[in-house]
Amino acid sequence: MPRLAYVDGRYCRTAEAVVPMEDRAFLFADGVYEVVLALAGRPVDEEAHLDRLGRSLMALEIPWPTSRTVLRQIMRRLLHRARSRAATCYLQISRGAAARDHKFPRPTPRPSLAMMVRPFSLTGLLARQRTGVRVVLVDDERWKRCDVKSVSLLANVLAKEQAARADAFEAWMVDDAGMVTEGASSTAFLVDATGALVTRPLSAAILPSITRAVVLALARSHGIPVHERPFGLQDIAQAREAFLCSTTSAVTPVTAVGERTIADGRPGPVTRRLIAAHWAHMARETDTPIPAEWRPIPPDSSDTARTAHSAS
Ligand code: PDD
Repeated sequence: MPRLAYVDGRYCRTAEAVVPMEDRAFLFADGVYEVVLALAGRPVDEEAHLDRLGRSLMALEIPWPTSRTVLRQIMRRLLHRARSRAATCYLQISRGAAARDHKFPRPTPRPSLAMMVRPFSLTGLLARQRTGVRVVLVDDERWKRCDVKSVSLLANVLAKEQAARADAFEAWMVDDAGMVTEGASSTAFLVDATGALVTRPLSAAILPSITRAVVLALARSHGIPVHERPFGLQDIAQAREAFLCSTTSAVTPVTAVGERTIADGRPGPVTRRLIAAHWAHMARETDTPIPAEWRPIPPDSSDTARTAHSAS
């Protein structure tokens, strides 16, 4: 059994990894985290994840436990040991261990760093991308700094459990104004009647998702209009397509929201274009092949021959 975890300077098996009971993340959820997907041991969008980690740390006034270079090295080592075609790396930094007292401990403790790597099922992701998933709507009961990727995820846990009990993949959370904020662990998108993408603009109400930023850039580069605005039930009712995105869901079609089926209940063309574009992005990032079903169709060889002939 390979040693796939790292805690404060020690590599060990994940089941044997331990953190002190006085760790502030254990006592107060006083810590931040990242989840990075890796293909063939190479992380996707690594620098963007480290940038966001830096912003989360700064927001909570937690110092970096080590340099970005060392973080990258630890991640690489764990991924190398995992030897998986696909894996996720979970990275958590807490304010450190200190006698239980709500305010920041003084003197400032050394922040603690923990990482673990797990194999990730590409087959599961590809199956969901083929068929789409159902989401349910739940109240957004989170705090007011959802832009910080903090380990304080109780409201997300409860939302996800509501989804699971309704046999849905995700819960889209709805704010007091009746507008969707985001999924319990993903970003929410619609394709409106004009074919434009609609997603909530960045603010403290949502996590600045790395996948969201990539998807918006890909959409713009493919000439797909983007409207960053809040959307509600009325918009969902009129939507042509819906999808969600995250590190571990990539772009996943949403075919029903609550009791409402989106269009004909099948993944739509804009979503499928973005899934393909996003796979191409992940393949470029990691120098790995695009899964066969999302590869661009090669030009017909007879067409190529004809073009070559007419050009001569
Ligand atoms: N969740 N919104 C929320 C609330 C999330 O927890 C996540 C990610 C996202 C998507 O962000 P990104 O594209 O950077 O993964 C949006 C991770 C995957 C998790 O908690 O497991």
